Amino acid sequence: MHDSLAREIATYEKRTPRSKQAHVRALGRLPLGVASNYRAYEPYPLFVREGKGGHLWDVDGNQYLDFGLSFGALMAGHSHPAVVRAVESRLRGGTAYGMPHDMEWELAEEICKRYPVEMVRFGSSGTEATMHAVRLARAATRRDRIIKFEGAYHGLHDAALVSVKPHLEEIGGTEEPTPVPGGAGIPPAHVANTLVASFNNLRSVERQFQKHPEEVAAVILEPIMMNVGMCMPEEGFLAGLRELTGKHGALLIFDEVKTGAKLAWGGACEYFGVRPDIVCLAKSIGGGLPLSAFGAARPVMELIGQHKVFHGGTYNTNPVSMAAGLATFREVLTREAYQHVDRLNKKLLGGYQHAVERAGLKACVVGAGANGVILFRATPVRNYRDWLEVDTELWRHYWFAMINRGVLAQPYWWDEQWTICVQHTEADIERHIAVFEEVAPALAQAQKEREQVAVR
Ligand SMILES: Cc1ncc(COP(=O)(O)O)c(C=O)c1O
Repeated sequence: MHDSLAREIATYEKRTPRSKQAHVRALGRLPLGVASNYRAYEPYPLFVREGKGGHLWDVDGNQYLDFGLSFGALMAGHSHPAVVRAVESRLRGGTAYGMPHDMEWELAEEICKRYPVEMVRFGSSGTEATMHAVRLARAATRRDRIIKFEGAYHGLHDAALVSVKPHLEEIGGTEEPTPVPGGAGIPPAHVANTLVASFNNLRSVERQFQKHPEEVAAVILEPIMMNVGMCMPEEGFLAGLRELTGKHGALLIFDEVKTGAKLAWGGACEYFGVRPDIVCLAKSIGGGLPLSAFGAARPVMELIGQHKVFHGGTYNTNPVSMAAGLATFREVLTREAYQHVDRLNKKLLGGYQHAVERAGLKACVVGAGANGVILFRATPVRNYRDWLEVDTELWRHYWFAMINRGVLAQPYWWDEQWTICVQHTEADIERHIAVFEEVAPALAQAQKEREQVAVR
């Protein structure tokens, strides 16, 4: 670990003793001391006391500008007044029915207005949405295999948890990446059904179709791969996938768990002008409550209506989440909100770019919609393998330096990105930029020293 990173971590430990205590206690009852592996990091994670608007307070009372926003699930920001109003007015009318109610049709209508789908079903998490989407595609095509992209994350079910963060030694060639299970407990038979291709490489997709003729049910992808920082699709990549899937009789699934609410009013489908067969939504559509959805054209969704594909769930469309979802679509994620967030993001991206250049840092700044990221490598990433070259120690230096100065610049882990919420202001962005400007020269210095050590 380089010295300036060690100093930032020492400062973090000095500022956050109660988080440390809370973590030590939690370790006794929760593996890693957290409720989701993504929340664990060294030396210990920040424990939260509360969030409000675009801000967060930890258990020591430190205040942060929050651009992590619950791994991007909060484009509404914390406790958005419209969401709070809707939830409060619902809470006394029952929190779960397990029976149909009017908000289901209402929210399905909102979704069908924005995304190119005709029918919708709901769930509580992104994992559910992509799991059901894959099952639907398998049923629609009567095929078992799917193609996913190396490095992409689509949730925790067996079909998706393959080649999420495989190690360099085990991934094979770029044109034909080796599928690698994302942990123990995934049966080899499931891994065999998940074929892996390289993002921005249509040849690697075509190759899988050719190797497995009439066996591939679907290609699933995030239109912008957001679990490697931000990896933008190159010109023609999404259109090429649309063409390839059509040619080979497979469905195209857009996992818009992140992009759906945050990239544009109509998600990536609108932003890139590509029409997938199935759309998966979650995270920011719920305004901070657990809500997900998947939708497709009528003939695909009617496989559920005809009792050919089973879909259920006790907590599906619980009235509190649905009220939050309706308020989010109608009052929070408006066209004006996208303009606001877009303007703020352009300002933030510009501020980062300027500071990077002024400090002589070798890094690139990438963003779209409500999201952005600084990647500690000279050029943007085109795929997972590029992202493996990011300087993770420098990233840690950046994250701890920002947090020590009151800015949660993005969720912890260098595969994530910042989110801007509708409650952030110009002043919040200016503060974020000012803090990064303060930190950038030390990052540039550390980068130079690290390069010299690497050469020696
Ligand atoms: C692109 C994508 N798909 C699916 C998921 C899974 O969503 P959830 O954590 O709600 O199950 C995530 C979560 O980070 C995601 O980023």
